Amino acid sequence: MEIQSVLLIGAGLMGRGIAESLLRSGLRIFWYDVRQEDLKKALMGIEKSFQKQIAKGRLSEEEARTCLANATLLDSLESKAEVQLVIEAVSEKLSIKESLFQTLNQICDEKTIFVSNTSSLSINTLGRMSKRPEQFMGMHFFNPVPVMPLVELIRGLKTSEETVETIKGLVAKLGKTPISAPDFPGFTVNRILVPMLNEAYFCVMEGALPEDVDQGMKLGCNFPMGPLELSDFIGLDTILSVLEIMHQGFGDSKYRPCPLLKNMVEAGMYGRKSGQGFYDYRS
Ligand SMILES: NC(=O)c1ccc[n+]([C@@H]2O[C@H](COP(=O)([O-])OP(=O)(O)OC[C@H]3O[C@@H](n4cnc5c(N)ncnc54)[C@H](O)[C@@H]3O)[C@@H](O)[C@H]2O)c1
Repeated sequence: MEIQSVLLIGAGLMGRGIAESLLRSGLRIFWYDVRQEDLKKALMGIEKSFQKQIAKGRLSEEEARTCLANATLLDSLESKAEVQLVIEAVSEKLSIKESLFQTLNQICDEKTIFVSNTSSLSINTLGRMSKRPEQFMGMHFFNPVPVMPLVELIRGLKTSEETVETIKGLVAKLGKTPISAPDFPGFTVNRILVPMLNEAYFCVMEGALPEDVDQGMKLGCNFPMGPLELSDFIGLDTILSVLEIMHQGFGDSKYRPCPLLKNMVEAGMYGRKSGQGFYDYRS
């Protein structure tokens, strides 16, 4: 089956990027976020991004108009959704995703495939909650989605071959490269990346300056972005959720979240999206 229409849930950092990539690849999207202001802001962000691409000669005015005409913003999830695929990109909380899947089950055809962009939650658990484990899998994009070529594909024990093939087809249509990752907390990339980010927070807590930590990893390890800049970009709240899920899932103290990270999230310092994180973005 070739995916042509998608119901996308979530218009935060990831939802916005996923929407832009889907639209650029000619897909029709129905898009919902519980915070309607976020949804409108995200669409405006895509319009701005298209304007920049037009200015650089990478997109024509007409192509941009056609892409944008393919997006329908939804103000509720009550009506029947005639789509082949649902992409879930809401906050990294199991309870939020569970109640969303209950609603989605009521409005979607039983053949509709559901995928989750979760960074760390169990695909087997989410698949069971979706009540369609054969048509459920993880489709983990990377931020910023229009730029990053990787998609991790995570199948649950019950995911059907047909579902995997359909989603691989979508990844190809988006011009991205898939890797298969096992269904364990953090999958592959975050399993390696997030403990390293956590270690950087311990360095700061123990007295290192964020600028020095970032400079060290850029000049000493050839990282394109320092771990603290990257953390502010990803969202400290999301990273804390991922660490907590890895800590709980593996039962291994090496994944314990740094107390400084917890304090910052408690204080609402989520990074770029809230204006303050390891760096200040308010001016
Ligand atoms: N931030 C990253 O770099 C990154 C990378 C890959 C995957 N992810 C995963 O993608 C998902 C979203 O992360 P994000 O960074 O976009 O978070 P975010 O906080 O930027 O956005 C989450 C969005 O979900 C919306 N939302 C919450 N509950 C909802 C509901 N019941 N119905 C509809 N919308 C709802 C919020 O209003 C918000 O706009 C998470 O599962 C996260 O782990 C994040």
